[in-house]
Amino acid sequence: MNEYNFDSKIERKYSDSIKWDSSVINALGGNPDADPFWLADMDFSPPPAVSEALKTRIAHTVFGYPANSSQVTTAFRSWLKIRHNWQVPEETITLSPGLLTGIASAIQILSKKGDGIVVQTPAYNPFFTIIEKNGRTITRNPLLQQGRRFLIDFQNLENALADPLNTLLLLCSPHNPAGRVWNHADLTAIANLCEKYQVAVISDEIHADLTYPGIIHTPFSSIAGEVISVTFMAPSKTFNIAGEKIAFSIIPDPSIRSQYQYFLESMSLSHPGIFAPVAALAAYKHGFSWLNALLAYLRKNLDLIDTFFGKYIPEMELIVPEASFIAFIDCTKLLPLLKKKNLTRFFSKEAGVLFHAGSWFGPEGSNFVRINFGTQTSALKDALKRIRKAVDILRDQEKLFQ
Ligand SMILES: Cc1ncc(COP(=O)(O)O)c(C=O)c1O
Repeated sequence: MNEYNFDSKIERKYSDSIKWDSSVINALGGNPDADPFWLADMDFSPPPAVSEALKTRIAHTVFGYPANSSQVTTAFRSWLKIRHNWQVPEETITLSPGLLTGIASAIQILSKKGDGIVVQTPAYNPFFTIIEKNGRTITRNPLLQQGRRFLIDFQNLENALADPLNTLLLLCSPHNPAGRVWNHADLTAIANLCEKYQVAVISDEIHADLTYPGIIHTPFSSIAGEVISVTFMAPSKTFNIAGEKIAFSIIPDPSIRSQYQYFLESMSLSHPGIFAPVAALAAYKHGFSWLNALLAYLRKNLDLIDTFFGKYIPEMELIVPEASFIAFIDCTKLLPLLKKKNLTRFFSKEAGVLFHAGSWFGPEGSNFVRINFGTQTSALKDALKRIRKAVDILRDQEKLFQ
């Protein structure tokens, strides 16, 4: 057994977790007792150093305004160097209370009302919400599915970027939910197109630290050249501390950076609370070996799902992700057996497994569900067995009526 025990189950029901809240689970899948494999937080404790740092802070018992410490930014810079081989000047980094807050703020700076923002779909649903609620429009560039892999449709992307209405590209790299870590060639081609058509880029890289061994993540701003770009990263997914809001932006262009910082200040969004920086600092300083152990554990879970589907449920095809603890499952071949039953509700009601509905990521995802496999292997095995049983029953029913 490795130094960190990802196998031990921590009861999360009644722990104020939205992922485990039975009324939410019921509303999403019609079965309050289904086990949650939907929302993107993991069922693991963070690195021990994070819990220790928070305990020490809490033991102090006085929780007034924190000092504007530069320690966490310094730790993040070192992390960028170690994890992504990227060295950035300190002044390019700005903190925000969460990644989505940062993205919404950058949208305010890099586009104006009525502009189009290009998104590669299927996409993380809050992208749509943020774009629309900020009075911008969504221009879709659907990813191309080639077997169990998604690719960028560069021709369609060029058409979209060439349209003067579209002033901004909101990139998701690694991509949620397609699981792709866009490689250096993909990103360079995107940067070239954006330079050609003068389109700025916001790159959401919240899942970047969770890239599996052998896959290299390239931060967009590190190759952006002349393209105006904002790259966002955070410790929230990496170290499973998403409930504490903190994110970092890297903005190479000084003018865009100061406009972004001015906007955050105008909304009073520049000052984090006391706990998030404590957790982030400990994670970046001491979390590396924990992260490596986590990735090895997640890899085993992934292999388990892939092998299980291949052997027992070939109607469900795992889109094996190159990063992170979430994966799309292509259920196209299962649909004829379902006879128009809703995919997510079927798994929830008949197998007690609540997935994230693929349609949440846009119509391009409607034949899919998304699994969060950042959980104990034993829980995953139980869920897979129940899914197999539910699909076996579907097949038996099909035979009966043939
Ligand atoms: C691609 C992506 N961006 C942003 C977020 C949320 O970031 P935050 O909670 O820091 O706003 C998530 C959470 O799942 C995500 O997957």
